[in-house]
Amino acid sequence: MKRLSPFVLLTVAFAFTAAGATDLPATACGVRKVATIASACGELLRVEARYLSDGDAPRRDTRVARTLARLDTAWDKAEVADASGMCASRSAAGDVAGSRLSEAVATTAAALPGSVACRAGLVSALASHCRRAIRSEGAFLRDRDRAASERARAVSSLRDRLEAEPPAACAGAPIPEGTVDALFRLAGIAIGDATIRGLRALGHEAGIVIGAAVEPHEVAADPSYPLVLAHDVASLTAENAMKWGPVHPQPGAYDFAAADAVVALADAGPHRLRGHTLVWGALQLPAYVQSAASTDELRGYLLDHVATTIGRWGGRIAQWDVVNEPLAAVHEPPTSDGLDDNVFRRLLGPGYIAEALHLARAADPGARLYVNENGVEIPGPRQDRFFALVQELLSSGAPLDGVGFQSHVGLIPIGLYPESATIEASLRRFADLGLEVELTELDVTLAFRAGTVPSRLEFQGEEYRNVVEACTRVPACTGVTLWGLSDRYSWLRSFFPNDRPLPFDDAWQRKPAYFGMRAALAAAALRKAG
Ligand code: G3I
Repeated sequence: MKRLSPFVLLTVAFAFTAAGATDLPATACGVRKVATIASACGELLRVEARYLSDGDAPRRDTRVARTLARLDTAWDKAEVADASGMCASRSAAGDVAGSRLSEAVATTAAALPGSVACRAGLVSALASHCRRAIRSEGAFLRDRDRAASERARAVSSLRDRLEAEPPAACAGAPIPEGTVDALFRLAGIAIGDATIRGLRALGHEAGIVIGAAVEPHEVAADPSYPLVLAHDVASLTAENAMKWGPVHPQPGAYDFAAADAVVALADAGPHRLRGHTLVWGALQLPAYVQSAASTDELRGYLLDHVATTIGRWGGRIAQWDVVNEPLAAVHEPPTSDGLDDNVFRRLLGPGYIAEALHLARAADPGARLYVNENGVEIPGPRQDRFFALVQELLSSGAPLDGVGFQSHVGLIPIGLYPESATIEASLRRFADLGLEVELTELDVTLAFRAGTVPSRLEFQGEEYRNVVEACTRVPACTGVTLWGLSDRYSWLRSFFPNDRPLPFDDAWQRKPAYFGMRAALAAAALRKAG
């Protein structure tokens, strides 16, 4: 076997010392893949730096293609030499990893602020640190408890070095915020494909589609966002862009720009798409609908809205939340029939839910149709009322394929963090009706949790593991969608400015919540592999 370079040996050392959940055993194959992708990472950054300087796109494309071809060949050789077969089956293919890395490099280089010359200098400087970033990121991803300090040292020493010896073209300008983090994000993508898979790949092996709610303008403005979407996400939901207000602000007037941007992100991923949401009587419903004067007027709006909106992306949306939160909200006074007192309920009667489902089926027979609700993950009167509603819909012949459990854990109800078995039993209860079930808006608020920040984050990590594990144990549970990825963009921040509800922190660092999800998916993947 070819003599292994010091870097490769060091990687092996890190792989073995950081025992724990190493996804891909540090076989010679995995080690060679890490070495190859580290070289490719450096080469791609140098090519991008040159392109930033001279703008010669054909030369850049030629050199990128050459680098990716070398990477793909090296991976094929490593896999052929790997007798176990584990190497090929448990990591991305060389061409996929290479193209993901090259896209990530281009995104990173384009997103760095500052003058072109300074950016070119920064990108070139980062190139020489690929190996170290990949090594420390790989160790961290394998076992954060053991490698967190090494990773932190790597980040700070690189940041210090860039500050101390800035590229000549940056003289005087501060090193842009996020430059070093972006390199470690790249390293996460690289090492992720070579040996450590992210939530996207692990979810695939566990049979669970991991999704995230996004706002397209936030993705466009944050260089780390696309990289995390590539590595940890396989499904997208428009957090707001597909709601009635944003797409259909006036009768007969549609604005699909933001929603189309989400669909374009999904096409680029590629990602599955969840449509959210056609009918929601509570929020972002325009005044002209709220103030409909008659049943006919409202029904006219509804027919047009469902047909036009679904028709916009016919066949591209895998699942639609046709009706969101049909139950009376937990913070509202109870209603006579437990349903939300909204304009649809008042003018069309409780049958509006079934009516919307029929309209959606007619508009896109291939989409899976869901009703989406909060606070029904735990047993009790609210879950019972929702269960009765679902049974009524099914017995009336409404085309209902699945139910969405929003899973705003710790918020609805406040301060309650259910055990995995409790959530599993709830999912099974609805799955036993022949329905698909998905967790559609997962976040775990800490706003009502006392204790030190580290202890609360560790607690949160365990709860994320509980919730995802529950889904992995119910065959009909096909997906877990996070209601955001980074704390920075969580909707909960508008109510609790210091909340930290999601798997990535404000600087896109993976939190215990991320590793809790990984642990649940990795365990399920192993169970599935038998
Ligand atoms: O886009 C407008 C902007 O033009 C305007 O200047 C601004 C002024 O307030 O409002 C902006 O719209 C806001 C929108 O988020 C986009 O930021 C709305 O006011 C605000 O109400 C809306 O909040 C969203 C909320 O649903 C209501 O639609 C949250 O971001 C979103 O996370 C939340 O998500 C819901 C799910 O759809 C259903 N389940 C519960 C979940 C949490 O409430």
